[in-house]
Amino acid sequence: MCGIIGYVGQQQASPILLEGLRRLEYRGYDSAGIAVIDDGEMLVRKKKGNIAEGIARELGANPVSGMMGIAHTRWATHGPPSDENSHPHLDASGRIAVVHNGIIENFEQIRSHLTKNGHTFRSTTDTEVLAHLIGECYEKRTADGAAGNPLADAVCEALRDVIGTYGLAVISTEHPDVIVGARRGSPLIIGIGNGENFLTSDANAVIAHTKQVVFLNDYDVATVTADRFDVVNLGADTADVQVRELEFEAEDSERGEYAHFMLKEIFEQPRTVENALRGRVDHEGATAVFGGLNMEPSELRSIQRIIIAASGTSWHAALLGEYLIESLAHVPVEVEFAHEFCYRMAPVRRDTVLVVISQSGETADTLMALREAKRRGHKALAIVNVVGSTIAREADGGIYMHAGPEIGVASTKAFIATLTALTLLAVHLGRMRMLSAGRAEEVLKGLEALPAQIEGLLAQSDVIKRIAEKYSTADDFFFLGRGYSFPAALEGALKLKEISYIHAEGYSAAEMKHGPIALIDEKTPTVVLVPADAMYDKTMANLEMIRARKGPVIALATEGDTQIAEVADDVMYIPQALEPLNPILASVLLQLFAYHIAVARGCDVDKPRNLAKSVTVQ
Ligand code: AGP
Repeated sequence: MCGIIGYVGQQQASPILLEGLRRLEYRGYDSAGIAVIDDGEMLVRKKKGNIAEGIARELGANPVSGMMGIAHTRWATHGPPSDENSHPHLDASGRIAVVHNGIIENFEQIRSHLTKNGHTFRSTTDTEVLAHLIGECYEKRTADGAAGNPLADAVCEALRDVIGTYGLAVISTEHPDVIVGARRGSPLIIGIGNGENFLTSDANAVIAHTKQVVFLNDYDVATVTADRFDVVNLGADTADVQVRELEFEAEDSERGEYAHFMLKEIFEQPRTVENALRGRVDHEGATAVFGGLNMEPSELRSIQRIIIAASGTSWHAALLGEYLIESLAHVPVEVEFAHEFCYRMAPVRRDTVLVVISQSGETADTLMALREAKRRGHKALAIVNVVGSTIAREADGGIYMHAGPEIGVASTKAFIATLTALTLLAVHLGRMRMLSAGRAEEVLKGLEALPAQIEGLLAQSDVIKRIAEKYSTADDFFFLGRGYSFPAALEGALKLKEISYIHAEGYSAAEMKHGPIALIDEKTPTVVLVPADAMYDKTMANLEMIRARKGPVIALATEGDTQIAEVADDVMYIPQALEPLNPILASVLLQLFAYHIAVARGCDVDKPRNLAKSVTVQ
């Protein structure tokens, strides 16, 4: 959450920063701002609201010029969205500007210390406190005539007093050719250009300018000018600086002809599955192959237990992972909310491997779970989408989703890519145990059939739209499923609530009768996932319980089911597939269902209220 971009070079900074902000808007859209240095003057423009209606309009009315600057799009933590609370924040002198992503946990103490020293604050943010602290350190250093780079040194000194997380960029009118960046817990990347350099929270913001990047590590402090960068690490003698090449194109993160990024990403899913499968299917050995698990077959063979930790949609994928791995590989799996795993100190057997799942690779809760498992001496693998992200770099090994940039705040294609990867992992582990070649081949062929099947589902978008519109005024929804359909029901409910703000609950269809059924009435539709599987009859019985209480039923069933249309008010159909693959197909329809309801309600699908793409605070 919160996006950062900085530019120093030979071009006008503000159009580059504004375009960067547009590409970062999925990180927060409560407010945005820019600070540019021109002829020794700090020019700051900032505005509450999204980029088009806020900062872009402000810059239209009050343009700035200058060849270097920093910019920020905000997801509010400390202090409500307002012009004053927008970043950049200035120090007491007005000569230093700071943008920040993260949380300064001890900002109250620092604020009261600074207040005693005569500082006054214009905002209620933790970041302004940091700006003043850096300013005070800077004044002290320059007054003492200390040698070195006073701005970078002031940042280092200030950060020694800070408890919390930060990815930050700092500029000063006294040093109009330098951006200082620092990270702890929140991502920060140097983009290396030709006679120009960038500092950003997401590679996405600089991809149109350069593919050469350096992912900074925790406690790194970077000094970036137009033609060089230097990195020191506050906790080590040397910084680990590796220049990497980004593996995606600028067009991959553009909306193209689609009305929303979410719709584009839903429609990309046939390719998503293909990309997640590419090079990983070994028909000869009837297994899946992975390049990056970094574990010997003997180590994989001796895993006795797996814990999968994740958050949100990735947690729903984890739950499906449990079902897949337990049924195909017979390895016991436990699924944990990443944040719970970190702090409840559950006893974990020594032969356990932790797997974390994260689209962004930056989710703070998930990163902490990974670190906790490693601290306890466990092997920790990661299933991640964003290449080079913190989780990808800190994991012992893992699997890339290869879904490409996911910009829609509501995750869609990363979920499908994760399920594909988890199915492959289950086959891989299963073939080291007692999964037969025949069954494994069935699953692999089922996976390879998915892209064409998903194309067929996408062609039904208008049918789903008509059903969605019919129910778009409901205030409450239930999503029910059993077995493999249970996690898919949870994800269906999450998608709907995230983007349409309809209260939606996902339950095991069996669990419904133990309480939630009290809420069923003629105004509360229930989406029942009832594909042709081993649970069919039992789920049908649950469906009847809802009908008996006059609850409208939208069934999600398998083509060829002749019974379902008679008992459900509306039906969405998926093609015949293996039971473990049904959730992938069902989820595509549920994504479309949520999308069309949100559009019918006039919701801003790509900027759902209160959400941000990557949750980098705990
Ligand atoms: C998904 O639609 C959500 N916006 C959210 O639940 C997300 O899945 C969660 O924050 C985890 O993100 P990650 O996969 O990047 O770790």
